[in-house]
Amino acid sequence: MTKRLYIKTYGCQMNVYDSARMADVLAPLGYQRTDAAEGADLVVLNTCHIREKAAEKVFSELGGIRRLKAARRRQGERMLIAVAGCVAQAEGEEILRRAPFVDIVVGPQAYHRLPELIARVPVAENGVVDTDFPVEPKFDFLPEAAAPQGVSAFLSVQEGCDKFCTFCVVPYTRGAEFSRPAGQVLAEARRLVCGGAREITLLGQNVNAYHGDAPKGGIWGLGALIRALAEIPGLERIRYTTSHPRDMDDELIAAHRDVSRLMPFLHLPVQSGSDHVLAAMNRRHRAADYRRTVERLRRARPDLALSSDFIVGFPGETDADFEATLRLVAETGFAQAFSFKYSPRPGTPAATARDQVPDAVKAERLAALQDLLHTQQVAFNEGAVGKVMPVLFEKPGRYSGQLVGRSPYMQSVHAEVEDGRIGEVLPVVIRAALPNSLSGELAIDNKPAPARQTA
Ligand code: 5AD
Ligand code: SF4
Repeated sequence: MTKRLYIKTYGCQMNVYDSARMADVLAPLGYQRTDAAEGADLVVLNTCHIREKAAEKVFSELGGIRRLKAARRRQGERMLIAVAGCVAQAEGEEILRRAPFVDIVVGPQAYHRLPELIARVPVAENGVVDTDFPVEPKFDFLPEAAAPQGVSAFLSVQEGCDKFCTFCVVPYTRGAEFSRPAGQVLAEARRLVCGGAREITLLGQNVNAYHGDAPKGGIWGLGALIRALAEIPGLERIRYTTSHPRDMDDELIAAHRDVSRLMPFLHLPVQSGSDHVLAAMNRRHRAADYRRTVERLRRARPDLALSSDFIVGFPGETDADFEATLRLVAETGFAQAFSFKYSPRPGTPAATARDQVPDAVKAERLAALQDLLHTQQVAFNEGAVGKVMPVLFEKPGRYSGQLVGRSPYMQSVHAEVEDGRIGEVLPVVIRAALPNSLSGELAIDNKPAPARQTA
């Protein structure tokens, strides 16, 4: 009998991947994903803890789901509620205390045990909590069978973080750094390609710290893993995210030079342009190191487009520190970026620093930084107009007859293309640029090539 599974995913791409894998783990139990919580047999909130008030938002969302559960009970049906992800890890038992109608609390390292946790619910008095960091990594227990992810797929290769930036909860919620063996990654990549993936984005909280067991002994870094992945027939594009500047090693930079399937777009968070702030953040690099890394990357791949993360108003950040960030942005040039006001996360060292920056100052700095980043993003997109770009078409666009895909630089591109060409990389002349997308026309015939006659 099929059961309905509703998963709501918050936060980063790793959570998107985890949600897909939770669905794979639950498929043998008869669960199929639906896109509404109403009438679901199991509701999973896959939560994110990176932003302020993350837990409060989860509790308020749970309020609504509680009503759906009650409505279902009135119809004589059961609805299980599970809280997964980083808020589950951080709050643990507290979730059951404040929301006793929740059945399961499961951390990001334990979701392969969901079937067992579901089985325990009827006999548990107060819900079931599993926030352990198991000795055997969950990847060893995830099923090989996976629902197809489409043309562009995610693949977790690394998880956790040992860097302990002083603002960040990740080392506490995702645990110590762990890399999957390369053989396991290659096998999963082949399966994704068989399922229709043409692009794979390798995921990890600190993905370029990857150091997995190599298939024939020894250890591979991310550069070696990318070279091996690039050999898989049918895999057109490889990307990876999120990286730390400290782990941008020679091998990985060389991969940007040599591997044409590795896309020329890199998300490389710098957080600040001030050495004083970078030191207080425990980032383990200076602004000059970042500049030098970018220079080396651009020498390896001259058309590389960059994205980054920034935090403004970190404790102790002065006007001069912030100016240094603006200078770094102006000199580097970003195709896109994410920027945030510093928000204290309980349990992290910076949260208790005495020299917190007033919110009004944070808001002013954020506006100035976002202005500059927006100008750069618009200029980057406008620079594409008139060029021919290879676009990997992923899905139907907003209007009929249109498909949307991505340029090598992660820009969304809309063009009139036949439906049957989803999954193809096609040349597109870019005609117009908006701040968040491009549009253009196919530079070749809009009809798929006729199937060749075989003798
Ligand atoms: N305050 C503001 N931004 C944060 N980030 C992580 N923790 C915090 C915090 N406490 C941002 C960083 C990181 C991105 C994923 O989220 O810029 O790179
Ligand atoms: Fe958090 Fe990234 Fe720093 Fe790790 S490297 S602590 S995930 S910001």
